[in-house]
Order: sequence, then C-alpha cells, then structure tokens
Amino acid sequence: MRIDIITLFPELLQSPFEVSIIKRARENKSVDIHFHQLRDYSTNNYKQVDDYPYGGGAGMVLKVEPIEKCISQLQSQRAYDAVIYMTPDGEQLTQPLANSLSLFTNIIVLCGHYKGVDQRVRDHLITHEISIGDFVLSGGEMAAAVLCDAIVRLIPGVLGDESSALTDSFQDGLLAPPIYTRPESYKGWKVPEILTSGNTPKIEAWREAMALKHTQTRRPDLLDENSASE
Ligand code: ADE
Repeated sequence: MRIDIITLFPELLQSPFEVSIIKRARENKSVDIHFHQLRDYSTNNYKQVDDYPYGGGAGMVLKVEPIEKCISQLQSQRAYDAVIYMTPDGEQLTQPLANSLSLFTNIIVLCGHYKGVDQRVRDHLITHEISIGDFVLSGGEMAAAVLCDAIVRLIPGVLGDESSALTDSFQDGLLAPPIYTRPESYKGWKVPEILTSGNTPKIEAWREAMALKHTQTRRPDLLDENSASE
C-alpha cells in the first residue's frame, strides 16, 4: 500500500511512522508513506495557503488551489482508491472502516488546519471524510497518524503473527478478553487458573465468555449494534 499525506506540518507526523510496527512495515515495503508539504503547491509569492472566509467570521480557510494542484499531481502519477480528508464532521473511524481501507492500494490523506478547507475541495476532490472521534484537534495530522496506524497494522504480513489483528478488540464486535503473562503470581495477584491449565478448548471458552462480559460492562452499545445488524 502507498499512502500520500498532504500536510502543512509534516514534522508533526514523522515520528509516529519511524518506530515499531509502522517502521517495520515501511522497511519491509508493506507500506510506502510519503509526505507532501502543502505550501510547496502555493503559486503565491508568500507561499500562502490560507485566506479569510467569504462572508466573514473567525479563522482562516485552506485554499482550494494548492490542494487541487497537489492532489492532481499525485493523481497524474498513479490511480488512487481514496482521497481522504480528516475532519471532525466526517464518518467515525471504526474497525470495519479500517478493515475496508486496508484493502486499498493507493490512498491520499489530506490534513486540515485552521477552520478547515474550502468546501469545493470536499465537493470535488475528496472521496472519504473521516473523524477519529467527537472532539476537535488543532489539525488533521494526529488524526491522520491514528488512521494510518489503524490501517497499516491490518496489511497482511505487517504483524508478526498473522492472526493477532484478528483477535483485536472490535474485530468480532466484542472487546478483547484480559491477557496475562509470567509470573503466575505477583505480590499475591494471581493469573486465572484456567489459563495455566493447558486445556485449550476451556481456555477458548473462558476467553469468549470474558470478552462478552467485558463488552457488556464497558460497551453495551456494541452488543446492541450487533443485534441491530443481525
Ligand atoms: N481534525 C480535527 N479534529 C479531528 C478529528 N476529531 N478527527 C479527524 N480530523 C480532525
């Protein structure tokens, strides 16, 4: 997969992609991530990329021209499956959405800033608008990092154990069950006996029951959503 990220602040985004799983994914060529400085696409002498909103009001708006130039240049080089705009009023990022985006080959991610982008960008250039939650960040960069992390770890071969993404919370509509590692007892805090029994079917049944219980307690809305979609 190739990801092209358009941003005014590439330095905000670099370090999340230089460690751990994403770093490895880039090294083994499972993902190719490129950053594009929006200011480089300004035709203005002052490299201006924003302007006052028509009709007045507070805040600045990212102009359509540099964004269109950057996206067109990328699209002249290869076909893109999605041109995503990170915005708090977009579709909420969920595991099923991350799963479907992870199947794409080439995507563009546009990070907004200030009051947002000229609406014509959204109307004519963007295919997906995605929010990472009901709160407002200073810009789309952190949201883009979250989105890319959620997608890249799902690309086959990125996680060491292929099945480990399948056992993540939300993959089966449930939260993940609790997990433990050695020692069996620490300060008298014990690992549930079933997990050291060696009885795999019983362990699986315990995990399923715990996942359900955990979901009922913490996120009963997930269970309602499952039954609603049945
Ligand atoms: N930009 C600012 N806030 C955001 C959010 N919650 N999700 C996605 N992009 C954003």
